[in-house]
Amino acid sequence: MHIKETLEPSLQDDAVLEKLLELNEGDGLELVRGDNPQPLLERVLREYPLRYDFAPLEHGPARWRYHIHVREEPVHRTVMRYLAWDHDRLDAILTRAMDLARSEQWEEAAALAAEFRVGLFRHIEIENEILFKAFEELTGSSEGGPTEVMRHEHVDIKESVDGILQATVDHSLDELERHHANLLGVLIEHNMKEENILYPLTDRQLDEFARARLVEDLLLH
Ligand SMILES: [Fe+2]
Ligand SMILES: [Fe+2]
Repeated sequence: MHIKETLEPSLQDDAVLEKLLELNEGDGLELVRGDNPQPLLERVLREYPLRYDFAPLEHGPARWRYHIHVREEPVHRTVMRYLAWDHDRLDAILTRAMDLARSEQWEEAAALAAEFRVGLFRHIEIENEILFKAFEELTGSSEGGPTEVMRHEHVDIKESVDGILQATVDHSLDELERHHANLLGVLIEHNMKEENILYPLTDRQLDEFARARLVEDLLLH
């Protein structure tokens, strides 16, 4: 999860790719851009289809930041590997935000809470709009199926995340602890259900090519 370096917006795409190639497995860096780096991320995927995972830390409009991570094993992509990585990445950001808030470093805590919100809201969006739709099509389930429960939990999760961010802005530790406890009350089990049931079930319904296409859609959204 460790981010070794921040790449400034002035760096050309070729230089970014060179920097990426210098990283070892498990390393990461932060890409900062003044505009949406989608074309660069598409190029990274095209030239090195299995080597990197990435996810947004900040999503415009003035600044875009991405965490780019070298996958531990450059093996074929699965929904499980990418989204479980994103769960762990988000857990780590939240833990750091909570530690900072508890030691009254409110500005840093609020910055990380904002990162957490961007990341988790986007994670939820790609699940709702891409993954769950694919799952519903593959299994012929929708209303009353497992994705309906997960979609409801997403609403509660987003509410708690908004509360967490607001509490860090207000420097209110009591409110923060309350929203944090509410979040974990849903999120821990939610993520476990996804990792134990929904992700592996989706992966199993697809052949290797279709699975890679789906994960690339998730990555680039
Ligand atoms: Fe989810
Ligand atoms: Fe998830």
